[in-house]
Amino acid sequence: MDYSQMFSQTSNRMKPSIIRRLLKLVQQSDVISFAGGTPDAELFPKDLLADIASRVIREQGKLALQYGETIGWMPLREQVAAYLKDWGIDCTAENILITTGSQQGLFLSGITLLNPGETIVVEEPSYLGGLLCFRNFSAQFLPVKCGENGLDPAELDAILAKASPKPKLLYTIPTFQNPGGSTIPDEQRGALVEVARKHGLLIIEDNPYGELNYTGKTLRSLKSFDKEGRVIYLGSFSKIASPGMRLGWVCADPDLIARMAMAKETTDVCTDVLSQAIAAEFFKGGHLKAHLQKLIGTYQKRRDVMLSAIAEHFPKEVRYNKPLGGFFIWAGLPEGQNTVELFEKAVAAKVAYVVGTAFYPNEGQGLNTLRMAFCAVDEARIQEGIQRLGVVFKEALNQKA
Ligand SMILES: Cc1ncc(COP(=O)(O)O)c(C=O)c1O
Repeated sequence: MDYSQMFSQTSNRMKPSIIRRLLKLVQQSDVISFAGGTPDAELFPKDLLADIASRVIREQGKLALQYGETIGWMPLREQVAAYLKDWGIDCTAENILITTGSQQGLFLSGITLLNPGETIVVEEPSYLGGLLCFRNFSAQFLPVKCGENGLDPAELDAILAKASPKPKLLYTIPTFQNPGGSTIPDEQRGALVEVARKHGLLIIEDNPYGELNYTGKTLRSLKSFDKEGRVIYLGSFSKIASPGMRLGWVCADPDLIARMAMAKETTDVCTDVLSQAIAAEFFKGGHLKAHLQKLIGTYQKRRDVMLSAIAEHFPKEVRYNKPLGGFFIWAGLPEGQNTVELFEKAVAAKVAYVVGTAFYPNEGQGLNTLRMAFCAVDEARIQEGIQRLGVVFKEALNQKA
């Protein structure tokens, strides 16, 4: 059957993620892939979760295998509210909505707040899944450059002063950003919230990587500077324990939470209750901190290995950041180089990255950039993969490999 006349305008606006397409290309086992931003499956706390799951099903199965409240499993909402104190957030379970991954938090923010044609400020580059989501609501993007220190409050202020029509929302990943690996310094965070207040913006603070902190110093969330309900904070279980459990949370003013819960009800009724009950026990048992130590130890070493391999093997003209946490190193070749064209050469050399242009709100930008994830590749393969990429880049710059 030909459905072309049947699709809704919304469906016609949707685009497949270029990253999923690229990942398919590089799934052969002999390709060293820095493309996927997924956690290392070897690090999932399998035994612990298996023990908790069997106990939860036996002891709480009547509730945990039943439909649950749309807003979330109360013990998990309480655990998350308590946990967010680590981020300087003073909240209670009333402020928490459990979502099916933080991706759903983005969707619920969009459907609750964005009218077609309204403007959302986005980082350039930004998380592709966020951009695709907001595009579905026919949002206009106002991109603001996101450098190694993330969004600059003064630059944002100057751009907003000139913006017409005025944007309504700011979408930011202030901590260990995807894709840029950038972090807004602690001392700039209050100023950023103040700029949003001055220009009447709500902020969506997306923080799935914040726990993977390799500095040893704690950071404050943007939400911790928010005294009036301006920041919608999104957290996720995906990078700290398991993405397959599909758990995230929104922390926001109860009025906003109620609206978002209404939208969620027609989407999935409730998030997987069994996953929620398992996660609540995981938090309650104090397992998160010990598990995070393990993740941080492994990922931090991989970051360091990738950075020193880049210093050794990439042409000196390639610029790259040194992320303080998270999964990603972002690099830029000299202007005029095209990482989309070089991608095929890289795959021929059995190594893969994600083309940077995928993360730009407007097409055709960032053609000389790329994202490399160090999270899911062991140290020896990181060395080998970066060496292979170095050969490809040196050839592109007409240098001897
Ligand atoms: C910045 C950012 N936000 C949100 C998500 C969605 O994560 P999840 O829905 O698994 O919580 C991701 C996933 O990679 C991400 O990188």
